[in-house]
Amino acid sequence: MDSSQPPAASADWWRQAVVYQVYPRSFADSDGDGVGDLRGITSRIGYLAALGIDAVWLSPFYPSALADGGYDVDDYRDVDPRLGTLADFDELTAGLHEYGIKVIVDIVPNHTSDRHAWFREALAAPKGSRARDRYIFRDGRGPGGAEPPADWPSAFGGPAWSRVPDGQWYLHLFTAQQPDLNWANGEVRDDFLATLRFWSDRGVDGFRVDVAHGLTKNLAEPLEPLPAKLNPGDWPPPTGTHPLWDRDEVHDIYAQWRQVFDEYDPPRVGVAEAWVHPSRRPRYASPSGLGQAFNFDLLEANWRAGEFLQVIIDNLADAQRYGASTTWVLSNHDVVRHASRYALPAADGSGSRVNAKAWLLSNGTSPEPDRGLGLRRARAATLLMLALPGSAYLYQGEELGLHEVADLPADRLQDPAYLRSDGADKGRDGCRVPLPWTGGGPAFGFGTGPAHLPQPDWFGPLSVETQERDPASTLALYRHALSWRRRLQGAETLEWMPGTNGQVLHFRRPGGWRSVTNFGSSAVPLPDGTVVLASGPVEDGLLPADTTAWIIPPSPGAATREDF
Ligand code: NOJ
Repeated sequence: MDSSQPPAASADWWRQAVVYQVYPRSFADSDGDGVGDLRGITSRIGYLAALGIDAVWLSPFYPSALADGGYDVDDYRDVDPRLGTLADFDELTAGLHEYGIKVIVDIVPNHTSDRHAWFREALAAPKGSRARDRYIFRDGRGPGGAEPPADWPSAFGGPAWSRVPDGQWYLHLFTAQQPDLNWANGEVRDDFLATLRFWSDRGVDGFRVDVAHGLTKNLAEPLEPLPAKLNPGDWPPPTGTHPLWDRDEVHDIYAQWRQVFDEYDPPRVGVAEAWVHPSRRPRYASPSGLGQAFNFDLLEANWRAGEFLQVIIDNLADAQRYGASTTWVLSNHDVVRHASRYALPAADGSGSRVNAKAWLLSNGTSPEPDRGLGLRRARAATLLMLALPGSAYLYQGEELGLHEVADLPADRLQDPAYLRSDGADKGRDGCRVPLPWTGGGPAFGFGTGPAHLPQPDWFGPLSVETQERDPASTLALYRHALSWRRRLQGAETLEWMPGTNGQVLHFRRPGGWRSVTNFGSSAVPLPDGTVVLASGPVEDGLLPADTTAWIIPPSPGAATREDF
C-alpha cells in the first residue's frame, strides 16, 4: 500500500487519525462575498492533501442566521445558500475522498435556531401543544409569571430563558436564537436519526457532536436550582446528576446513534464535544456510544512538563480502560490560538485557555505577549502532540503558526459571547479570522473582496504562499511532521524514557520512534539516535529550550533530518 495514503477502508481509521478542522466561513471564499464557502474548500483540496491529514471536520455549513457562527441551525439537511448547495457538498466530499481524506460534519443536537421550522411552529402554536413540546417551554414564576422559570444562566451571559408574546418562556442555554430541544420528545429523537442517515448516505464518514453533554436535563417540576455556578474552565461535578449537564441518561441517546452508525460499512464515527469531568469522558467515548470524546486537557494545561506529563498519563490510561483512542487538541474555533496562549508570561499561566481569555480583554496588550516565544512553544507542543498515540485534531491556520487576532475592532465582533456579555468576554472572533493564502492582494487570497472579519497586516508574511517558499516555515514543519507520523505510527502505546523530569518529556513509540521536548529554560543533551525532525534548530547534540525533536534509532543513510 502507498504509505502516503491513510488506510481508508479500515473501520479503525479514526483511532490515530489527524483531523483538520475547517471553519467554512473563514477558510476560502470562491465567490468574493467575503464569506468562505464549500467551493472555496473544494478549490483547496490539493492543499489539504499536501498537508497530509486523514480527515476534515467541517464546522456547521447549514442554513443559519449566524447568531452563533452557524451553531444556530435552521435546517440540518441543507447547505446555507451563502456557502453553496448540496451538490457543492457532494462535490467536496467526493473530492476529499479521492485523496483518501475522510469527512466529519458537525451535528448540533442540543438546540436548533429560532428560525428552524419547528420553532416557528412552536411560537405559532398554543401553550401545551405538541409543537411546543419539541422545545422546553414553561410558565414563568412570580406575579404574572414575569420571572424566568428557573435561575439557569446562558453560557453566553444573561438568563437562559426568553419570553414569548403569550407569556411563556423557552429555554436556551446559549443565545436566545438557539432554543434548546426537548430530548424527552420522541419526534426530536427520530428526526436526528434521520439526519444522521441523511449525511451518512451522502458519504459522510463521521460526526462531531456539539454540546454532547447537554441534551438531557432534569425538567421535573419544580425546576431544580443550580447547585453552584460553574466558572469558565469548571467541569460539572462528576455525579451525573447536575440538572443541566452531563446527566447519565444522555447515553441512551448515543446508544441509539451507535446503532445508526453501525448500519454503515465502515461504521460512521462520532466524537463528542463534552466539557465534562475527565472521569466521565469514557461514557461518551465508549464503543457502544459515540466512540470518541474530545480531551481538552492540553488546552487547559500550562506550558509545564509536569502538567503535560499528567495529562498524557491520565488520558492514555483512561482510553485504554474504555477501549477508545484518546484525542488531542491544542486549538479550535472556541479558544485563543495556542501560539498566543504560549506567548503569555509564565506567571500568567502560559498556555491555559482560561488565562488567555483575560488577556484578550486587553486587546492582547496586557500582559505583553512574546510572540516569538509563543510560536516556538506552539511548534514544540504540536510536535509533541503529533507523536502521541491517539488522534490529533488540528484547527485551520495553526499550521501557519497564526496568532490570535486580539485587537479586532469592537464594532466588527460577531461572537455572541462578546455581544451578550456587554464586552465582559471578548469572544472567539480572534481565532476565526479568514486564512491568508497569499502574501498580498485582496483579503490575502482568501477571496476577491474584503473578508467578513478584518485580517491584520501581519497575516501577509504568514500566508500559505509565503511559507511554501520557506523550507523552515511552520507550514513545512507540519507537512514534514504529518508525513513522518504516517511513516512511524504504530500501535497505540507509549513508553516513558529515562530523562523525563520536571523539564523534559521523553517517550518512545513502538518501532523505536521517540519524541523529546524541553520545557525548561536551558538546553539539555539530546538522547542517542537520529534526529529526523525538530521544531527548532538543534545543534551540538543539544536540545534548546522550548523545542521538540523526533528521534529514530540510528540507521545510517535511512533518514534525513529537518530542523526548523
Ligand atoms: C460548542 C461550539 O464549539 C461553539 O462554537 C458553540 O458556540 C456552542 N457549542 C453552542 O453550540
